[in-house]
Amino acid sequence: MTATLLDGTAIAGEIRAELSDEVAEFIENNGVTPCLAAILVGQNPASQVYVRSKRKACEQVGLESVLHRLPEDVPQDDLLALITRLNRSSDVHGILVQLPLPPHIQAARILDAVHPLKDVDAFHPDNVGRLAQGRPRFLPCTPHGVLQILHRGGVPVAGRHVVIVGRSDIVGKPLALLLLAKDSPLGPQSANATVTVCHSRTSDLAQITRSADILVAAVGQPHCITAEMVRPGTAVVDVGVNRTPEGLAGDVDFAAVRELASHITPVPGGVGPLTVTMLLHNTLAAARLQMVA
Ligand code: GUN
Repeated sequence: MTATLLDGTAIAGEIRAELSDEVAEFIENNGVTPCLAAILVGQNPASQVYVRSKRKACEQVGLESVLHRLPEDVPQDDLLALITRLNRSSDVHGILVQLPLPPHIQAARILDAVHPLKDVDAFHPDNVGRLAQGRPRFLPCTPHGVLQILHRGGVPVAGRHVVIVGRSDIVGKPLALLLLAKDSPLGPQSANATVTVCHSRTSDLAQITRSADILVAAVGQPHCITAEMVRPGTAVVDVGVNRTPEGLAGDVDFAAVRELASHITPVPGGVGPLTVTMLLHNTLAAARLQMVA
């Protein structure tokens, strides 16, 4: 059996078309264009690519974006002062600080400084706490992208065993919280999973991954999920974006795993386009929240 391809580019296109209409309606009703402020510190090549693609996507759906570029050696207090200014600006609805930050900056202090109502990455402890309690304000972008790709790809999660490999604050942990919840904005079929989170210290990883109905790879190591780790008929979502000498590679050995999975996401063209799209969704949601705040 060859897996059905879950085409993230096509699904992101569908959602962006819906968002374009919602943004136009918002502007018509409020006379305000929602605006995302992105902060990029230093010259990290991957970060520059991500920020460029986020801004381009904003433009596609009719959102405004502004980019604040700061030098690699910017003092932490200058970065905090910029965030304070953006928090206070009524022209800015969402604030995104592109990670990673240089080592002299305490990332937690920076992320804590973003106003929770403008926190479109959902990294602020207030928003993480709300997610853990099942009353999210913003859904974190990559986990939300995974839910969307499964939902629109016809893969229900309720009652099924989802194994997540990776426990990061950006993907593994918040995705586990979303899947564990009793409901989701996409309906209860996109929640109510039985969730196992595996990591670098998990014993007998392959035995656990082989028990998955849905396997999510969010490790950051090219091709580390091999065919032996996947039971035939599993739906496989690859969140990995690894730069290798041969180009972009996912965490999954795509060529081998596609022969036995029921569904699979490619890299590139899988979860990546959804992550950016869910950021647009959150920017509009942030603008809506600020109209009533
Ligand atoms: N760096 C890698 N992923 C992300 C993300 O989702 N948001 C931000 N701000 N930085 C990142």
